[in-house]
Amino acid sequence: MTTGDEYQLEHLISKRADAREKIHFTTVDLTKQPKDFKPHDKPLHLSWGTPNDGFFPVNSISVEIQDSPFESSLNFHHTNNSLEQLPKDLKKLDLSLEKDKKSVNIVKRGEDKSLIDIRQGFQYSMHSGMDQLNQFCKDFIERVHKPGYNEWTTTLSTGAGDGILKTMDAILNPGDVVLMEEFTFVPSLMMIRECGATGVPIKLSVNSHSEGIDLDYLTNLLENWETLKPGMNKPKALYTIPTGQNPTGLTQSVEFRKKVYALAEKYDFIIIEDDPYGYLTLPPFKKPDGVVKLDEFITVEEYLKDHVTPSYLTIDTKGRVLRIETFSKLFAPGLRIGFIVGHKRLIDVILRYAAVVTKFPSGVAQTLLQNVLYQKFGGVDGWIEWILKMRAVYIHKRNLLINELVKSTIYEKGLIDIIDPKAGMFISVVLKFPEGTDVQEKIDLLNFKFASFGVGVVPGLNMAVDKKFSIERGSFFRLTFAPLNNDEEVVEASKRFVDAVEDFFAKGLEY
Ligand SMILES: Cc1ncc(COP(=O)(O)O)c(C=O)c1O
Repeated sequence: MTTGDEYQLEHLISKRADAREKIHFTTVDLTKQPKDFKPHDKPLHLSWGTPNDGFFPVNSISVEIQDSPFESSLNFHHTNNSLEQLPKDLKKLDLSLEKDKKSVNIVKRGEDKSLIDIRQGFQYSMHSGMDQLNQFCKDFIERVHKPGYNEWTTTLSTGAGDGILKTMDAILNPGDVVLMEEFTFVPSLMMIRECGATGVPIKLSVNSHSEGIDLDYLTNLLENWETLKPGMNKPKALYTIPTGQNPTGLTQSVEFRKKVYALAEKYDFIIIEDDPYGYLTLPPFKKPDGVVKLDEFITVEEYLKDHVTPSYLTIDTKGRVLRIETFSKLFAPGLRIGFIVGHKRLIDVILRYAAVVTKFPSGVAQTLLQNVLYQKFGGVDGWIEWILKMRAVYIHKRNLLINELVKSTIYEKGLIDIIDPKAGMFISVVLKFPEGTDVQEKIDLLNFKFASFGVGVVPGLNMAVDKKFSIERGSFFRLTFAPLNNDEEVVEASKRFVDAVEDFFAKGLEY
């Protein structure tokens, strides 16, 4: 056992993770140190298998950075009405192109200790990732979601997917149980199963007033676990996507999170908070008028005070929460960099998994990310300003998409309900089938209908932990405005969706 004898939740660590031992072949047993031993002050290492940085074929990297989202597509004459006015109109934040336009230069050997140079970035490094980037992650969490206790730390991961598997491995023994939102990011279910554990779905309220998890259902399930789930271990964890939930788009308020945390305390389980979307906060839908609105640009202080929903970390006093972060949605998925925040003891356990299985995320990706974060954005607040620019575009795209839906006759006739998301990339459209409809059959038919009308959407049921359990609440589709190139595409895709549903209802729910 290494750190944190004081950790109160030792009993929740998995046997497999706790038993892992880190062995390094260059360490010397210090207990065998002779009395008069004095180490040389300038040792030369014939010990480590690290290639000298002179062998690295790359001497420098020059990175051209765009100042606002879609800027490069505008240069390529893609139309994006929403952004054409952006640079010259920005007054509230100092985001002018002139100030920010600079390339990022990454050198072989640099002096600035906050940056990662090629000599360091291309070399082997610690499993937690490089100190500079870990420090950025800590500073970011301290600024945005400061945990309610001191003994927390971070480790890098290769994206949220890796973060989920590592946190599951840290706590799950074979036969353990994880509670999950009934519609969820299904790869997480695969990871739970990878650890020999079972995912148990919790009912969601899938409607526009909901905060996601049905709290009455959850409370009753926990209170009557032995009767309702006979023979099953008590839940070891809750895996939740609390903000802009994937797939429903629902967001838990901080009051809601406090209630869930109280249940975690009472029934002694860990909360695994997977939150790739929480920073993309969205105000309520407003009819768009062609351009990104200046009033969507808020200051960093306004954003942190009134817009970001505080993480479960901020409520946590014991190290009961493991938060999974990723740069995939805000920077780029191809980086494969994310991080995990949690109690030092749990992070230490996770690092032993990294030592055996994943090592550290690509040093090249870490180098690129750290240099862009500091040279271009100037650290945490500058990074948040980039997020705010993305957010303004997301708000606009969301407005465009929902606008097409609410203008439609299917909406006017009450055949669909729309979940206007408070964060993230996903809008759920719930189809109001008549009582007694075979939902699975109609969803299957609709998949072909959408394909023939030329629009791709995800049926909620495809993301169910257990389709049988969720069939009654499964008549919705997940739509996302994120991947489309410009306003025209968003409007056209939304129209195709509406036309397909209209046609389906007009034909009596037949293809
Ligand atoms: C809820 C959720 N968790 C994790 C991930 C995976 O993220 P990453 O690309 O960082 O592995 C996704 C990606 O879509 C997601 O929606």
